[in-house]
Amino acid sequence: MFFVFSSPEALARHLSLQLLQLIQKKPTAILGLATGSTMEPVYHNLCKLIHDHQTPLGQLTTFNLDEYVGLAPEHPQSYNYYMHQHLFNPAGFDDSRCFLPRGICADMQRECKEYSEKIQACGGLDFQLLGIGTNGHIGFNEPYTPFDSLTHIVELSENTRIDNGRFFDNWDDVPTHAVTMGIKDIMGAKEIVLAATGAHKAEVMAQLFQSSVDEAMPASILKTHPCIRIYVDEQAAALIPAEQLTKID
Ligand code: GLP
Repeated sequence: MFFVFSSPEALARHLSLQLLQLIQKKPTAILGLATGSTMEPVYHNLCKLIHDHQTPLGQLTTFNLDEYVGLAPEHPQSYNYYMHQHLFNPAGFDDSRCFLPRGICADMQRECKEYSEKIQACGGLDFQLLGIGTNGHIGFNEPYTPFDSLTHIVELSENTRIDNGRFFDNWDDVPTHAVTMGIKDIMGAKEIVLAATGAHKAEVMAQLFQSSVDEAMPASILKTHPCIRIYVDEQAAALIPAEQLTKID
């Protein structure tokens, strides 16, 4: 379940190739996508691979995990902006098939309900890409989020606001709420890869490794998924017993 790579770049090369092969094999795939620093080299490599292989993307559909409440798509710290900057625009995705929950809309409850329904109406996710927060969150599903949750509004924990505050000029600008795909939506994906890199993720990865399936550690539910792979670089793997890790390169 835990695969270790020599560097974040090696992890990104492997994961982006895996995504390319999935898109080539199934051009109509439904992809669940993630944001965050961990994904930047993955998307950078994927854009290059898509160009090099001239991979058609016209039938691909994507659903992002989450968005900050209160940020418009054109806000530079919104996840909508991130996705267009790092993947959709440079790779040439069809915008009309790229979905993110909206951070601003008249009826947020309805937005949440319809987001989960739309994933189902498309036939469910073929693949879900995940990062992890230092408190074990996946998407923005903070500790103690029910495992049967669908897309919902979440109040961000202090820990998450501090972690993500690095992208904002002032503490007061750091959003207090987000809209996130629920854990049940994520677990509905046929295949899941969670990626974590860097020494600051070593502790949470060790906690995830040791944890039983417990809502206190949201990512622990992944241990029950039939097709889960957890990718870590050597720094993020530092506190996991080496014999429990499959070395890729
Ligand atoms: C945010 C996102 C998560 C992401 C996490 C890790 O909180 N909502 O989906 O997994 O950050 O981000 P990073 O890769 O920057 O450590």
